[in-house]
Formats: sequence, structure tokens, C-alpha cells
Amino acid sequence: MDMNAAVVHRYGPPEVVRIERRPRPRPTGADVVVEVAATSVTSGDARIRAARFPAGFAVPGRIALGLRGPRRAVLGIALSGRVVETGPKATGLRPGDRVCGMTDMRMGAHAQYAAVPRDRLVGIPDEVDDDRAAAVLFGGTAALWFLRDRARVRPGESVLVVGGSGAVGSHAVQIARALGAEVTATARAENTDLLTRLGAHHAIDRSATPLTDLGERYDVVFDTAGVLHSADASALLSPSGRLLLAAATLGETVTARGRVIAGTAGAGRDLVSDLVDRVAEGTLTPVIDATLPLDRIAEAHARVDSGHKVGTVLVHP
Ligand SMILES: NC(=O)c1ccc[n+]([C@@H]2O[C@H](COP(=O)([O-])OP(=O)(O)OC[C@H]3O[C@@H](n4cnc5c(N)ncnc54)[C@H](OP(=O)(O)O)[C@@H]3O)[C@@H](O)[C@H]2O)c1
Repeated sequence: MDMNAAVVHRYGPPEVVRIERRPRPRPTGADVVVEVAATSVTSGDARIRAARFPAGFAVPGRIALGLRGPRRAVLGIALSGRVVETGPKATGLRPGDRVCGMTDMRMGAHAQYAAVPRDRLVGIPDEVDDDRAAAVLFGGTAALWFLRDRARVRPGESVLVVGGSGAVGSHAVQIARALGAEVTATARAENTDLLTRLGAHHAIDRSATPLTDLGERYDVVFDTAGVLHSADASALLSPSGRLLLAAATLGETVTARGRVIAGTAGAGRDLVSDLVDRVAEGTLTPVIDATLPLDRIAEAHARVDSGHKVGTVLVHP
């Protein structure tokens, strides 16, 4: 059986993404085939589509992903949907179950069906709809991993989120607040109301108040925009301050230690499970920028490329 999939054969602008008919994946081993209800076009997908990597990652990125185009032509790492088939070693899930999760480097979520390792999938609680289950994954896993697992934010600490309106930032503001922090976040003027609604105690218009004019020191500075470097961030950090770099260069990733934290959140099931529980409880609400059908996925990529999407862009295959 065939399906529609968004395919990238050559790195390039949003227009390189084409809809093609592809064979529907079959489940082998511990894989589960999911009929995709919602998937996100993330900053990570747009980076891969354009081969636009943080400084230093251009060569390793192409070696890992493909020289002229991605070896795995169907991008997309985050999805929600329904189980349609299970592999012989995939236990605990049945056709019809509502699930969400991340495919990670295997990608393949920008299609009507995707094969996902069983241990990457989490059941979606009844209170959570498919869109929110898909939208929480990419930004939420990064925010939870950096703030809770790496920086170990404690109640009463001060947290600055640079880029609080994006996919990572909009989750980071809410999670930092839920961890008991005093939260300051930056965004463009039109997004400062959103920062307040998400729970920021202090919402900063980044064009009116540059980071150098904040006049405060923070226990945690989380740069989701890739604008801070260790040297200029030290003036923003308290004596016990930690700097979290979501968009670190290769050099920053290799040298990060002590109070500077970089790395990749990964797609762990524990993180995903925690996130959907928070959505079900109503303590975390993913921000959805736009929802488009699969045949308009190039528009979704263009929106991500703008650098100013608000939260997450979803696609319905
Ligand atoms: N390490 C990991 O595991 C991991 C995981 C996920 C994502 N990431 C990386 O994290 C970064 C953010 O991802 P995302 O999906 O959240 O991106 P995004 O949704 O595009 O958000 C980017 C944010 O940056 C702000 N921004 C843009 N230009 C800025 C500037 N010059 N100064 C300050 N803020 C600026 C934007 O908001 P305004 O326009 O409102 O200011 C927006 O809030 C990406 O580089 C991504 O690759 C890393």
C-alpha cells in the first residue's frame, strides 16, 4: 500500500519539499506503524532541509545526514496518531491506541504513516488532543531536559529565557515557572503579552531592552535563540549561575563544562511521558503557531525559516 509523504531529495529552500507517493512502512522487530494525525515542522527539520547547521556542524552534519541531500528523505521527528500495526516484538500496544513520540534520527514523521520504535511511543491521555500531543514534543523535551535534568532548577531560583516565544522557549517559560523559578523571558514586542500569559514574571521586549541592559544576574540563563556566547553571558550569571545553550556551536558543545551546558535533549520516552502528563493536568500548554495540511508543508517550512514562528507549526497528513 502507498501513502503520501513529504520528501526532500536535495538540501535547499522550502520549495525543495515535495509530496510523493511512497510505500507505507511495514512493522518489523519492535517497530510500530502509526497513522500520523499531527506532526510538527520544527527548527530542526528546517535546519536539515536547508543544511543550515550551527557553526562547526556543517561538515559533520552532512556526513551524518547525507552529502547533497538527506539520506532519509522523509523528515519529521515528532508525531501523534493511532497505532495501525505492530511488529512481532512490539509489546503493550494494539491497533487503535492513541500514541505520540519522537522518531529522532530515523525521522519519517512527515507522512501519512511512520514506523516508530515501540520504546519511543507513549500513550496519549484522553484529556490531550492529537495536536497538543504532537506540539509538546520537540520544544518540550528540550526545555524539560535542559532546565530540570541539566540545570536542576530549584524553587526560588531566577531563570532568564532568551527567545521565550519559540518552540523551546514557550515550553521553557512554563516549565521554569512550574519548577518554582522567578522567570524572565525575552521576545519581540508583539510577543511579550504571550510571555506573560505563559507565566513569565518579567516579559522583556528584546528590541527595547538588549540583554546587556537587563541589569540583573540570573541563576540560569537559557539561550534558545543562539545569540549568547559563554564570554558575554558571564555578566548575566549569578555566582552559581548556569548557562544553557540550545543552539550551541560545535566549539561550544565540545568545550561546554561546569556552568556552561550544551548537548542534545534526545527523544526519551520518560521525557515524553512527563510532558503529556503535564498537558493532561493543564500545567503545560503547547503554543501552536499554525496548522497546515501535508500538501502545504513547504509553507510550514517557510514559516519556520522566518525565525519568528510562535511556538510550534503543525502539519496534518
Ligand atoms: N539542543 C537540543 O536538544 C535542541 C532541541 C530543540 C531545539 N534546539 C535548537 O534550539 C533553537 C530554538 O529552537 P526553536 O524550535 O525554539 O526555534 P524557534 O521556534 O524558531 O524560536 C526561536 C526564538 O528566537 C527568537 N529570536 C529570533 N531572533 C532573535 C534574536 N536576534 N535575538 C533574540 N531572540 C531571537 C524568536 O522570537 P522573537 O522573534 O519573538 O524574538 C523565537 O522565540 C534552534 O537553534 C534549535 O535547533 C536544540
